[in-house]
Amino acid sequence: MSNSEPRASRSIKTDQMSSGHQGLHLVQLPAAWWESLRQILEFETGMDLSDSRGGRLRDAVAKVFRKSSHFTAESLENTETHARFVEHLAAELTVGESFFLRNENQMQLLRQKILPSILQDNQQRQEIRIWSAGCAGGEEPYSMAILLQELLGADGSWNVSILGTDLNPVFLERARAARYRPWSFRQTKIYEDSRFFTPVSGGYQVCEPLRRQVRFGYLNLMKDVYPSGLNGTLGQDLILFRNVAIYLKPEVTRQILKRLYQALRPGGWLLLGEIEVALVPDLGFEVHRFPQATFHRKPWETNSVSASSGEIPVNPAADVDLRNPRTSPMKEPSNWKLPVVPPLPEWVPLPAVQRGGRAEPRVPELQAQKPTFVAPASWQTQIRQATDPVQRAAFRLRLAQSFLELARTQEAREELEQSLRENPLSIEAHLLLAGLFEDLGQLSQAERSYRHALYLNRDCALTHFHLGLVLQQQDDPLASWKCMQTALQLIDNHDSQALVEHGDGVCYGRLREMIMMVTGDIRE
Ligand SMILES: C[S@@+](CC[C@H](N)C(=O)[O-])C[C@H]1O[C@@H](n2cnc3c(N)ncnc32)[C@H](O)[C@@H]1O
Repeated sequence: MSNSEPRASRSIKTDQMSSGHQGLHLVQLPAAWWESLRQILEFETGMDLSDSRGGRLRDAVAKVFRKSSHFTAESLENTETHARFVEHLAAELTVGESFFLRNENQMQLLRQKILPSILQDNQQRQEIRIWSAGCAGGEEPYSMAILLQELLGADGSWNVSILGTDLNPVFLERARAARYRPWSFRQTKIYEDSRFFTPVSGGYQVCEPLRRQVRFGYLNLMKDVYPSGLNGTLGQDLILFRNVAIYLKPEVTRQILKRLYQALRPGGWLLLGEIEVALVPDLGFEVHRFPQATFHRKPWETNSVSASSGEIPVNPAADVDLRNPRTSPMKEPSNWKLPVVPPLPEWVPLPAVQRGGRAEPRVPELQAQKPTFVAPASWQTQIRQATDPVQRAAFRLRLAQSFLELARTQEAREELEQSLRENPLSIEAHLLLAGLFEDLGQLSQAERSYRHALYLNRDCALTHFHLGLVLQQQDDPLASWKCMQTALQLIDNHDSQALVEHGDGVCYGRLREMIMMVTGDIRE
């Protein structure tokens, strides 16, 4: 062991040598090591780990060391291994507590007022889009499918699209398996209803028709790009963001709520956990206080063309903060270096350290370079006037995007298909159409569209990634794995901070990280 070796590194090694992982004496790790780790985790997840919550971080570190022998002082010096260590910790720190039909008052209101009102709004187009952001093991999105099934009965003409997203891949795996123990039904006997559940050993399985309406995806609300047509988060009728904000820093919650606002169609509803309602700052939501519960709503008029400019900002795709972390370095404690907390991957801006050493996560601001929403009528005029088919196709693509933002998916699909007839070489249109098919649960059509896009450009890492996701959902793990490997190889040719082509603002570094998450690296 050399004398120049950093103190924290030495401390871990000594413990390991004497007593192995089980015997790690975490108390010996220097305070600055914990502080750095806390800052990084708060920045990665938005969680508040300050003060008394710091104990949770200690427990999580102890557990991760116990569970995985991969993490040693040496291996943590490697940036990629350290990033994995952080992901393991994030998964360990998340609280996946959830159960079916959670909060009877809110469920009653959804059943009696909110969902019927959405169905009424969407009567003509017969589709409904719901997003459970922070869905844990899936009880919440499946509960929405149950409520809708109760309301729609045998009417099979409605297109129901429910999306559940979370940052913990283990929870997502559970959600996809859709098998629940009795504890998930602690306040309901809905498992007795054979329309929704089948008894299986040790619990209950969600039945197939409901499962087909719900899909799950990895999405870190703190880091990823949304709303976007590429991950199905655009144009929602209802967003559930319940019992997530209580774990987050207020500034993080504020930024997430701004994005959720943009993900709602005009007149769309937001539901928070009962005690989180008080956390919503004034962001333009209407507050609807019913005797049973409070809902927030995006006003109807917000997304219409404003009289002056005809445009309002809507898509934060370009809002990802791509500032070079080297321009805002995290200060190191004066007497030692950060041996086991190597620099964050390059594309992630490091947390700003305030005086006194306290870090505040810098959440990407939404104001920066916002593309604008243009109402369909403007695009329709442009389409009528365009004489060149390629230009007309480009306008149709924009029109389709406007329809998506307004949750008018059928019209979006028609425009995309027409756009592709006019210009079959548009990769962007193929990708958007593929995303739409995924939303609608039409996986073989989604696969076909991604393959069309690949035919036009085999070097697009994003297309390989999305095709891999679709193949994963189609139970073809080998083909999916190959796509992900190809995507990783292609990513290697790019600067990690560079924007991914057609990626709606995601950068190559983050795309690599997402691939690591969805391929199960975290569960090694
Ligand atoms: C207590 S559960 C809530 C589950 C469900 N919404 C409910 O109310 O029953 C909180 C969930 O939020 C997820 N979560 C926490 N921070 C997140 C983030 N930054 N991005 C995405 N999901 C996050 C956690 O992984 C966890 O599954």
